Amino acid sequence: MRVLITGSAGFIGYHLAERLLAQGAVVAGVDDMNPYYDVALKQARHARLARYPGFSAHIQDVADRSALAALFATFRPELVIHLAAQAGVRHALIAPQDYLHSNVEGSFSVLEACRLHPPRHLLMASTSSVYGASTRIPFTEDDPADTPLNIYAASKRAMELIAHSHAHLWRLPVTAFRFFTVYGPWGRPDMALFTFTRRILAGEPIALHGHGEMERDFTYIDDLVEAVLRLAERPPQGAGAAAPFRIVNIGGGRPVRLADFLAEVERGLGRQAQRQLVPALPGELRITWADPSRLRALTGYVPQTPISVGVPAFLRWYREFYGV
Ligand SMILES: NC(=O)c1ccc[n+]([C@@H]2O[C@H](COP(=O)([O-])OP(=O)(O)OC[C@H]3O[C@@H](n4cnc5c(N)ncnc54)[C@H](O)[C@@H]3O)[C@@H](O)[C@H]2O)c1
Repeated sequence: MRVLITGSAGFIGYHLAERLLAQGAVVAGVDDMNPYYDVALKQARHARLARYPGFSAHIQDVADRSALAALFATFRPELVIHLAAQAGVRHALIAPQDYLHSNVEGSFSVLEACRLHPPRHLLMASTSSVYGASTRIPFTEDDPADTPLNIYAASKRAMELIAHSHAHLWRLPVTAFRFFTVYGPWGRPDMALFTFTRRILAGEPIALHGHGEMERDFTYIDDLVEAVLRLAERPPQGAGAAAPFRIVNIGGGRPVRLADFLAEVERGLGRQAQRQLVPALPGELRITWADPSRLRALTGYVPQTPISVGVPAFLRWYREFYGV
């Protein structure tokens, strides 16, 4: 199986690529290694993937349409997993144009490459952030999701809509997943778990946004990989005139308060954090809560790992990787 993964040096892309390579797949990884966060961490992830003979790294911008189409023409992927993106809700306040470039232009470029060289299935990463101001919780995929609260959410919703049109026009089977706060070893330094850990170990105070009352449906990385690979085997067919397109929440449906998540990190490190209770940032959702019914119906699987297992697994990796 030839699989092309964009964002392969990223947190989720690395884990998916490794699992596929271990199963014997041939993986082309595309990443531009941009400095949004520590490039050394991205390089370390790619270096681990390079231990597999089936892996090739392609350092390029997905928004470069001709370079991407050329790679598709030679590699001829059977499966495409598009994860490359400008992520993060906070960076969106400082550099909104980065979201249009990678998430809209970049995703369009992936769709165009798939139109020219159709894979059996294109899977694309969207986010729970698209639910924005929706008050219908838990979040279901049928929610209109037309009230994004930040440009990250808006750019991902735009990606979903453009993908639907390509699925319809070109009969391209597309699954867009909405990920719910993914965490685990080799995670992303801009996310809460990383910041909490670093600050507790450094004895620095932690600003708990939303006064610690915000809730997130945390998804452990191994569970997410399992869900994505099960979905990869089930491309949507598109009955009749309907486009072969679907959106699937990937979350366990058990939100956790941020303050409780921090307490789990404190337990794992055996140290107390210095808490600063501060208001939420503009554009942050108070709660994310997945309805996982569609995922369960399609795959028979729902993320299960509790934070009491996932957080210590992250901390073991963090201590070893950073030698602390
Ligand atoms: N981690 C989460 O909790 C979470 C939640 C919801 C959605 N997502 C989505 O899942 C996907 C993967 O997230 P992640 O946590 O692994 O993030 P990440 O930042 O670790 O990985 C993204 C990778 O894409 C690369 N990239 C960015 N723009 C690019 C471009 N224009 N061309 C080529 N490469 C580019 C980056 O260098 C990075 O290595 C993203 O689409 C993200 O929006 C993640």
